[in-house]
Amino acid sequence: MNAHTAVSRRIPEHVPPVLVYDFDIYADTRVSSDVQRSYAEAVADAPDIFWSPANGGHWLAKRYDAIAAIATDPEHFSVREMQIPRVENPPFFIPLSLDPPDNLPYRRAMAPMFGPTAIKALEPRLRHWAQVIVASVADKGSCDFMADVAKVFPVTIFMELMGMDLARLHEFRHLAERFFEVQNDAAELAQLSATILGILGELVEEKRANPDDKLMSHFVHAEIDDGRTMNDDEILAMSFVLFLGGMDTVTNVTGFAFQQLAQMPELQERLAADPARTSGAFADEAVRAFGVVNSPRLVVKDKDLLGVPFRTGDMVLNLLPVGSRDDRKFDNPHALDIDRKKVAHITFSTGPHLCIGHVLGRAEIRVLVEEWARHVPAFHIVEGSERPFRTGTVMALEKLPLEWSV
Ligand code: HEM
Repeated sequence: MNAHTAVSRRIPEHVPPVLVYDFDIYADTRVSSDVQRSYAEAVADAPDIFWSPANGGHWLAKRYDAIAAIATDPEHFSVREMQIPRVENPPFFIPLSLDPPDNLPYRRAMAPMFGPTAIKALEPRLRHWAQVIVASVADKGSCDFMADVAKVFPVTIFMELMGMDLARLHEFRHLAERFFEVQNDAAELAQLSATILGILGELVEEKRANPDDKLMSHFVHAEIDDGRTMNDDEILAMSFVLFLGGMDTVTNVTGFAFQQLAQMPELQERLAADPARTSGAFADEAVRAFGVVNSPRLVVKDKDLLGVPFRTGDMVLNLLPVGSRDDRKFDNPHALDIDRKKVAHITFSTGPHLCIGHVLGRAEIRVLVEEWARHVPAFHIVEGSERPFRTGTVMALEKLPLEWSV
């Protein structure tokens, strides 16, 4: 039994029985380690937007168009609460917990540091770390790709981006890994959050005294709205959402994509034959096919949309990874096809909270696959190995044992 099954399964009167379809976002037995495909198949017979009585009862939107309609309508679908089931004191992040227009000054303060020019300037550091991390396993002939590569790379890049002291790499990596591992242990999670916020708080002090050209200095000195700078609480709420949003996501998209790539020797050959030219298309397809974020909203004003009666107080979950495999939008949606004609996907959501790190996320995956293909041209999953995974709002592959000839 999971922690969420104790809540009521009562179906509210406004929900038409024809829209009810039972699906447990945390523990549905139909979902396997090929998470995105099995998830889409598990909800294939459900209506485009449906109500599940599991986890306190909530709506789920699975079609690209329905998801886009909800994500771009903050007047009715708010980010004020993003927990399923709902909790008493929901956490607050900037800009993620703020609806427009309150989020805008903060988005404006962040945006320049995440645009294509800024990320291009960061690329030598991305490449350096990708090379170091790939070199740490390439001669061994095997690794747990999640623990040894996919979890290590984004946390290192986060530290680079923020301007953290890389002498603390091991300590901070360990904290970050633990943080994402213990999602069901509230006490340890609170303790880890406090430690991480403490380290980020020290960084704020340091950058006030000694500014550099890194992100934390930018936050400390950026002017928002009426020309004022941000206070420490605002800076920490922004830094923490970057910590949450920038690591587990890249780790898990990469992990799921490599799980698939490990089973595609011909695609491995193509990547190894010309890594620089193929890695961009691979990164695009990896992001489309292996979305990991399901995005919740709280209905704050009644709305009838696409035949569905949303009522104030309902929770809605946008199944972005399922929307990015919508067969009304993509031919052969479950195939990882680097020759696919480019069609907009919804893995990064859309609307006012479109992922601010999408250029960086894609660049991380592109550079990592490029360096991997150079040093480990052919590899496969260790036969019979377990590949545990977790679902929920951020979906994760917890282990991916790979091996290759050296
Ligand atoms: C491939 C990897 C990534 C995926 C799949 C992803 C996905 C998403 C999604 C779906 C959202 C919208 C959430 C919602 O509206 O409920 C989001 C928001 C956000 N992401 Fe990402 N993300 C990725 C990488 C990154 C990176 C690398 C960073 C930065 C280091 C980042 C920072 C953020 C921030 C700050 C937000 C909040 C934006 C706002 O509220 O305005 N993400 N991400």
